[in-house]
Amino acid sequence: MKFRRDMQTKDGAALTLRSLHAQDAQTMIRVCRQVAGETLNMMRYADEWTISPEKQAETILKAEQGEKELLLGAFTAEGLAGIANMRPVHPGDRARHRAGVGIAVLKAHWGRGIGTALMQTLIDAAGQTALEQLELDVVSTNSRAIRLYERFGFEAFGRHPRMMKYRDDTYADTILMALDLRRTR
Ligand SMILES: CC(C)(COP(=O)(O)OP(=O)(O)OC[C@H]1O[C@@H](n2cnc3c(N)ncnc32)[C@H](O)[C@@H]1OP(=O)(O)O)[C@@H](O)C(=O)NCCC(=O)NCCS
Repeated sequence: MKFRRDMQTKDGAALTLRSLHAQDAQTMIRVCRQVAGETLNMMRYADEWTISPEKQAETILKAEQGEKELLLGAFTAEGLAGIANMRPVHPGDRARHRAGVGIAVLKAHWGRGIGTALMQTLIDAAGQTALEQLELDVVSTNSRAIRLYERFGFEAFGRHPRMMKYRDDTYADTILMALDLRRTR
């Protein structure tokens, strides 16, 4: 789906939240690679972001065309500062009410309200569809992210043990969370 919203960061700078276009593919890969290198909370290591800009552009186009799908970028004057996505969890009819979501902001921009703006926009966009439930999983020690999700009404419903295994052979569990959108309608 396509979406655009102009707003401000907490510190009063201009912030545009818009669905990504195929031309953003290269920038998206660069930002995802950078965030992946800045935190242990993402699924991939930075060096695993090997997708070509052409393939990434295809994914972006597919998201633009998807009725319940959104690939969202948060743009400041300095460029792309964060990314969020919403995607149905399964193509089957029995899962038609559910989508998975995720957000990531470049470390240099943390604390400016961009993560909050991205999540609010995903929820607002989901509200324009037949989706009833948003789901995510978050590393159990990522308390900033968990607090952000709880603020929006996400509730923990389980724990995924040893979801990640780092290259130093340590593990991380994730907390499974869901937001019932029917309560906000
Ligand atoms: C989690 C993440 C998306 C938050 O993004 P953000 O843009 O910093 O979020 P916000 O600025 O909206 O702030 C979120 C909350 O964190 C708090 N916060 C901001 N800076 C902080 C800091 N340095 N230390 C602790 N808390 C802080 C804010 O106060 C805010 O809470 P509040 O609104 O109750 O005040 C971002 O840190 C991130 O991308 N991390 C790496 C990737 C990741 O973990 N993604 C989530 C995967 S599930």
